[in-house]
Amino acid sequence: MGKITQLIYNNGKNYPLWIMRQAGRYLPEYMDIRNKVNNFLDLCYNPELACEITLQPIKRFGFDAAIIFSDILTIPDAFGFEVSFLKNHGPKLIQINSDFEFSSLDINKNIITKLQPVFDAIKLVKEKLPKDKDLIGFSGSPFTLACYMIEGGSSKSFDRTKEFMIKNESFFQELINSLIKAIIIYLEHQIKSGCNIIKLFDSWSGILSESYFNKFVIKANAEIVNYFKLKYSNIPIICFPKGSGTLIEDFALNVNCDILAIDQNFSTKWVVENLQNKHNKIIQGNLDNYLLAFGNFYQIENEVKKIIDNFGKKPFIFNLGHGILPSTPIKNVEFLISLLRK
Ligand code: CP3
Repeated sequence: MGKITQLIYNNGKNYPLWIMRQAGRYLPEYMDIRNKVNNFLDLCYNPELACEITLQPIKRFGFDAAIIFSDILTIPDAFGFEVSFLKNHGPKLIQINSDFEFSSLDINKNIITKLQPVFDAIKLVKEKLPKDKDLIGFSGSPFTLACYMIEGGSSKSFDRTKEFMIKNESFFQELINSLIKAIIIYLEHQIKSGCNIIKLFDSWSGILSESYFNKFVIKANAEIVNYFKLKYSNIPIICFPKGSGTLIEDFALNVNCDILAIDQNFSTKWVVENLQNKHNKIIQGNLDNYLLAFGNFYQIENEVKKIIDNFGKKPFIFNLGHGILPSTPIKNVEFLISLLRK
């Protein structure tokens, strides 16, 4: 049993540690492999390489959990929207528009056949991963995937998505519904392939006002979580409704996940009172990823201490508030680990 699973089932006492994007560009051994291919998705679809990359941060740092090396945009890619990541650019994909025929999508077939390499990578990792480590599978949440599909790539504020959602609400709801179906199939196959925890990334949920947040973030995540709680009650679920501010309390009330991942923009006191105490959620987070990249040891230690002093009175998983930055020095990650193992 891994440390996160222990925390949930046996009230484990120490703080499990893993880091968002722990397999990535701050690691020289990742860059060695990355530089051999042009499109990053080619790595995700190569089970041997994806397995090797997944295990890199476990071998180097001994993190308590591995997260399968993949991306949230594999689902739009499997739907046929041709996702690519060119060097030094964000993702690009074909934009969806309002005359798209959902009836032409064979969701089950798309996910199961096109994403088979992801499931094969998970099986390989499961064989090689030490038994005391958890293996986290993941997906983007429906709203965040819809953002990328409507925008055709990344954006600072997803203006086109908001305009589209407001003007074409019934089409947007249909898109969300198709994504819910795809995500359930995708995560279920990840579990069957060997993942023992799942995480839903709703990275752009924070751009929505309350009514839309309720409709497209809370309801959509709840539907997915309920499916798994009913069928796989022993699989812990982490939700990450990033940037949602105080709306996360309604999320906590309505989405039956075990763990809430929180970004670095929260009042610590508010999180303890409202999420840990009132709603009994296990908190995961939330060291500032910029502090880990650019802070000195003194600055990092102070902040880690503050996080542990506040969140550590209850079961707690240490992580960053967002993905580790490519410029983060390895020695800072080693220092972070030494603080938590003290
Ligand atoms: O955490 C891990 O180590 C597992 C792998 C993982 C990746 N992406 C690898 C990746 C996970 C869990 C993700 C999630 C993901 N992908 C999210 C949700 C988390 C978040 O950051 O909010 C999002 C929004 C994406 C979409 C995405 N993928 C973008 C916008 C980009 C480009 C921006 C960037 O950071 O370069 C990616 C690329 C990506 N995904 C990389 C990695 C290691 C870098 C690609 C490269 O090596 O060239």
